[in-house]
Amino acid sequence: MNKPNGITSSYLRTHGLIKAQQLDRPTIEAIFATANRMQTGNYDSQALRGRVVITLFYERSTRTRVSFEMAAHKLGANVISIPDAPTFSSVGKGETLRDTLMVIGGYGPATIIIRYDKKGGLEEAPKFAGVPIINAGDGTGQHPTQALLDLYTIVERFGKIEGLHIAMVGDLANGRTVRSNCYLLAKHFPHNTIHLVSPAQTRMGEDVKRYLKKHQVVFHESEALDDVLSAADVVYQTRVQAERFKDRATLLEEVKRASKKLVIDQKTLALMKKEAIILHPLPRVDEIDLAVDADPRAWYFKKQTPNGLFIRMALLEMILGANH
Ligand code: CP
Repeated sequence: MNKPNGITSSYLRTHGLIKAQQLDRPTIEAIFATANRMQTGNYDSQALRGRVVITLFYERSTRTRVSFEMAAHKLGANVISIPDAPTFSSVGKGETLRDTLMVIGGYGPATIIIRYDKKGGLEEAPKFAGVPIINAGDGTGQHPTQALLDLYTIVERFGKIEGLHIAMVGDLANGRTVRSNCYLLAKHFPHNTIHLVSPAQTRMGEDVKRYLKKHQVVFHESEALDDVLSAADVVYQTRVQAERFKDRATLLEEVKRASKKLVIDQKTLALMKKEAIILHPLPRVDEIDLAVDADPRAWYFKKQTPNGLFIRMALLEMILGANH
């Protein structure tokens, strides 16, 4: 059994996972090792028997919710699913997150997995719920379980995350996956170079850049994908987060226009290293041409997405299981 050690693994069991920076390196390694075991089918399908997992989603999701629910089912837990909290719960009547969690937590679930619509809005969620909370994305804040599965996929390809050039591409101002990835890389995986490629209007937030500097991460900003392709080992593409541009239609049109220069297509492939990989947290809109899917470097469907299931099984077993 891959028993995690370090403060954060015990914190995981009492509070859950709210932001990427909470994770310590031994815990990340234990999650990856447990995910490896999940991938080989070596897990107890009754490990979480009798436990109830609740998914409470304020925003839309395909991958995160389905893979978490699938993970819970595979480990024997029962699942209560609230896929659109504003429509299908009293959130739509004006109930606050605090009150919602005090009520749901009071029923005694093993954990509540929440996708919330406000950046940083889950910080106090474990206190209100009294059970571990897993952040499945908080507005333009973070998506720590996505970052775990992304880095796990990079390890699967390169064996380690060291000495790599990693290009984060797209709407970096609003994408929570790239933010969580930067936090994890900066804190635990030194000696990489990060290339932040975005339209001028949607650069990476200053908070993340401060964190990168604090951890002496070498990073560069650019508006042109072609500038980084010959160096990049990982090209991490993201979509324009159109839902974050409410009442800013003109800016959205500008960003969409600028993002056309960042589309990955056959011309991009020709400039990339043969050994590189393309990742994307998905959903895709139009930022990767469909023809790219057939290229062996396109890892988003064949590796990255399935890894979400294994990482989330590992997390649930480590947070809720009896053997950790
Ligand atoms: N990657 C991701 O978070 O996808 P969903 O929004 O579909 O969950």
